[in-house]
Amino acid sequence: MSRLTVNNEAIEYRLDPATPLLWALRDASNLTGTKYGCGTGSCGACTVDIDGRAVRSCQVTIAQVEGSFVTTVEGLSRDRAHPVQAALLAGNVVQCGFCVPGVVMAAAVLIKNDRDPSEAKIRQALSNLCRCGIYPRLVEAVQRAAR
Ligand code: FES
Repeated sequence: MSRLTVNNEAIEYRLDPATPLLWALRDASNLTGTKYGCGTGSCGACTVDIDGRAVRSCQVTIAQVEGSFVTTVEGLSRDRAHPVQAALLAGNVVQCGFCVPGVVMAAAVLIKNDRDPSEAKIRQALSNLCRCGIYPRLVEAVQRAAR
């Protein structure tokens, strides 16, 4: 059994301890906003906030994050859009949308810690892959969201 706090709710996962957090979130908690892209830590679609860090949830087991506080895109902002989400909408950034939950989580962690991130820092923090190529608009939106 692995105990975590997910979106401010205490959870006990009665799963194989080697289960990737991604699949515990999606299959056991029905938090399907966290996406499966590559499963190898390359794409960032599965990014969540774990104890204030942006982490690719396909790369950590539920045993490794026992006792952690996990925030998924569903728990990021309950009653209104998070500033990153609002900036993405205002900037007409989103295309197909598949990568967006992971992008939003990585950006939210970034601007929580840095209210004036440089373009280089944004590009480094948001190494998430986007097949639609939204990167230029995304950088601008994250800069707006940080302010
Ligand atoms: Fe985790 Fe691609 S699904 S990094």
